[in-house]
Amino acid sequence: AAFFPGRPWQRGLAARGRPREPAGWFRAEALSGGGGGGPPRREPMAPPYNVLITGSTKGIGYALARKFLKAGDNVVICSRSAERVESVRNDLKKEFGEQHVWGTVCDVREGKDVKALVDFARDKLEYIDIWINNAGSNAYSYKPLVETSDEALIEVITTNTLGLMLCCREAINMMWNQPRGGHIFNIDGAGSDGRPTPRFAAYGATKRSVVHLTKSLQAELQMNEVNNVVVHNLSPGMVTTDLLMSGATTKQVRDKHNLFLTFFLFLPLLIR
Ligand SMILES: NC(=O)c1ccc[n+]([C@@H]2O[C@H](COP(=O)([O-])OP(=O)(O)OC[C@H]3O[C@@H](n4cnc5c(N)ncnc54)[C@H](OP(=O)(O)O)[C@@H]3O)[C@@H](O)[C@H]2O)c1
Repeated sequence: AAFFPGRPWQRGLAARGRPREPAGWFRAEALSGGGGGGPPRREPMAPPYNVLITGSTKGIGYALARKFLKAGDNVVICSRSAERVESVRNDLKKEFGEQHVWGTVCDVREGKDVKALVDFARDKLEYIDIWINNAGSNAYSYKPLVETSDEALIEVITTNTLGLMLCCREAINMMWNQPRGGHIFNIDGAGSDGRPTPRFAAYGATKRSVVHLTKSLQAELQMNEVNNVVVHNLSPGMVTTDLLMSGATTKQVRDKHNLFLTFFLFLPLLIR
């Protein structure tokens, strides 16, 4: 009870039901939600979904945004660059219409930016069903740790660890106030399974921590009988993006992408 002080009515609401579990995805792991039970929640989660994707001006985040939009959902995109957000939003608006896509600047490493992102999403869409923590960085560099600069280490760790925590905190606070609850997806990556990641040791260590954070958050939600918010891990495998290709030039790596891209491009359809 001390965990979410001053919100007993919300604890009651959260404990009364659980949202429809997304089903059928490959390696998208719902890390055991709270028990709950009882009468159904006030509002079932049904498409079209309101989706927020961090780091969605290129790469995997952008591909996901396009697919959700194609499926008829509403999407909030964001990244650190106002120019990229504006240009991507304009392109998506032309293709999917003015009233389906919104964009704003957000550096996930800045608590005030993440809070402003929540305000923006509430203002435009009222609530968010699916929040995808996709923003991540390897500082576009593959080097042994002993050769890695302070700047690169700070970039990788603050984005993938601090940024993820800030986003999870704000997403949970937002979603557990929502009658429809919500789903949070934390994108992990190389290293998350515990295998070594030479030449990107810091990145691998941060991605290993994503799994731990997801499990701990789910345990905290369960402990507080919040079962209308579910935190998931999402493991994309290799996808040829700037992040992956910044250090890889081999044909083998380039050729692998089709296999994994297939999973991503179908995710928005699989969760229906
Ligand atoms: N590519 C792969 O093979 C692979 C495999 C497993 C997991 N992943 C994970 O998937 C996610 C996306 O990777 P990607 O390959 O698509 O990378 P990417 O092509 O480099 O795109 C990264 C996106 O995140 C944004 N971003 C970076 N730092 C940010 C910050 N501090 N705040 C907000 N936005 C930020 C970037 O835009 P701005 O620069 O404008 O901010 C960009 O839109 C990452 O978490 C990555 O670790 C990738």
